[in-house]
Amino acid sequence: MCGISAYIGHREAYPIVINGLKRLEYRGYDSSGIMMYDGEKMYLTKTKGKVSDLEFITNQEEERKAGNIGMGHTRWATHGVPNDVNSHPHYSQSGELVIVHNGIIENYDTIKKELITRGYTFKSDTDTEVLINLIEEVKKTEGCKLGKAVQLALTNVVGAYAITVFDKAKPNEIVVARLGSPIAIGVGEDNKEFFVASDASPFLEYTKNAIYLEDEEMAIIKLGKEVRVRKIKDDSLVDPIIQELQISLEQIEKGGYDHFMLKEIHEQPKAITDTFRGRMLAEENMIKMGSIEDNLDKFLNADRIIIIACGTSWHAGLVGEYLIEDMARIPVEVEYASEFRYRNPIVTSKDVVIAISQSGETADTLAAIKLAKSKGAFVYGVCNVVGSSIARETHSGAYTHAGPEIGVASTKAFTTQITVLTLIALKLGKANGSLSDDSFKNYIQKMSLIPKQIEKLLEIDEHVKSIAAVYKDATNCLYLGRGFNFPVALEGALKLKEISYIHAEGYPAAEMKHGPIALIDENMPIFVIATNKGHYEKVVSNIQEIKSRAGKIIAIVTEGDTQVRDIADHVIEVPDTEEALTPLLTTIPLQLLSYHIAVMLNKNVDQPRNLAKSVTVE
Ligand code: M6R
Repeated sequence: MCGISAYIGHREAYPIVINGLKRLEYRGYDSSGIMMYDGEKMYLTKTKGKVSDLEFITNQEEERKAGNIGMGHTRWATHGVPNDVNSHPHYSQSGELVIVHNGIIENYDTIKKELITRGYTFKSDTDTEVLINLIEEVKKTEGCKLGKAVQLALTNVVGAYAITVFDKAKPNEIVVARLGSPIAIGVGEDNKEFFVASDASPFLEYTKNAIYLEDEEMAIIKLGKEVRVRKIKDDSLVDPIIQELQISLEQIEKGGYDHFMLKEIHEQPKAITDTFRGRMLAEENMIKMGSIEDNLDKFLNADRIIIIACGTSWHAGLVGEYLIEDMARIPVEVEYASEFRYRNPIVTSKDVVIAISQSGETADTLAAIKLAKSKGAFVYGVCNVVGSSIARETHSGAYTHAGPEIGVASTKAFTTQITVLTLIALKLGKANGSLSDDSFKNYIQKMSLIPKQIEKLLEIDEHVKSIAAVYKDATNCLYLGRGFNFPVALEGALKLKEISYIHAEGYPAAEMKHGPIALIDENMPIFVIATNKGHYEKVVSNIQEIKSRAGKIIAIVTEGDTQVRDIADHVIEVPDTEEALTPLLTTIPLQLLSYHIAVMLNKNVDQPRNLAKSVTVE
């Protein structure tokens, strides 16, 4: 989970590479570096900190920015603490080869020991410096070109990588390779320039043509020539597919908002409308989902559905469990992908697995999918990033179509995942007769109102901000919800934790009396989801219990509620809808609340400490 940005061509490479790194900072931002080649010399600049720190250093010396070839990296540390030395790029011992790397070389220690016996010394603690020296050693001993040396070296490597390698002796080419970490090659007109990046965002303004390497593929990129793609294992040639990029520059910019997170919160009405597009036919009271229709018998005859995901996507999965069991009466289990893959789970060909991931690159989810497939299960993906590893690894699936999500804290990805899961639950419930026609139609009609309801809900921003100002200095918070809103309580707590660094816990409201109630005193803010359906009366009782222990209550209620208003310290109203659809609304104020608290505490909202957008390590 690092970002790679590289350029080779006729333009000045520096601004392309640096701006590319800024767009990729969501992938990691604890240190960064750039190598520039001016036709004679390579200049390496690396530093702990953000790309802006790197820019500050390079701005001191113009020669650090000169040349038409550049390779940059923004890092989320795995091997070696984030410092200048461990930052990428890394030179080989001779200083002739240079590499940037995303991933982990698991057998680096064995290779390092072997290289030390052959006279290599190492400046950093990284697995990456080991890899570039291995490539150099192979190149020397085999007497081969860079491409062949990279291929041979990689056959000795265990782990995951996306790499870009440059050889000063061959300055018109760069070599890239992929296993488990994404890499995209932007192809310029007439092959006069090439871009390499962890996703296509760094080169959107230059070319719409991109080649996405598959796992175990490498590419030799030579100026003026077609890109040559090979299989790493057997060196066989592959016909590269040049795809036309569908995302625009506008989608990856802040568009007047202070932060991507705020922009993405506000994009939810549009994002959900895009998720609906072509699927939710409200006028005809129909849901069309080819990927479900084509595999309907698998879903309907499944012993159970297992949902696997991590983080926010796991919370969406929990909502999915409540939805599918309620509407389609099919048993569902929700598993953390990271636990599932290592706990020797019982999975059979009668199970359907739904894997949920915004990025489509989460290593734990990907590994869990492979495990489920190996046991014969049918695996269905719910991903946002088109063409991502998870989208490719699953048998079938549905994209959420949320558009690029850049803020590290997931917002629109969550609500669009829930939207897809609701469509699936409705579709299955209708197909197996668990939902009556009337009930199905009612859901469709209520569902189609959600984007407009969120639009209206977003107008409460100032009110939420005033509540944020009251509780911004809290050190602990509780989030309570029941039924469909229990996962929303978990998600609300995660949002606060990850961007404000305030400790927060989510609980099913009724569980409070089994322990967490001991935490409550006058300093504890408790966010309670108390919409007017389902377990309303029970939640009201829970609120009374908190009140009698002097806890501060911030309640999310349905418009027009009076009962909770009388007891709570603050209320935030959400529009009325069916209980099963409330997570799509109750989530919004909790997102805004976390956002405002983080801004008031002066935290880095879009790039919270220690986190990265896609977690491509175990
Ligand atoms: O890309 P994925 O949905 O697979 O990512 C899963 C988690 O890493 C992610 O949801 C994470 O928890 C976010 N930081 C939450 O805001």
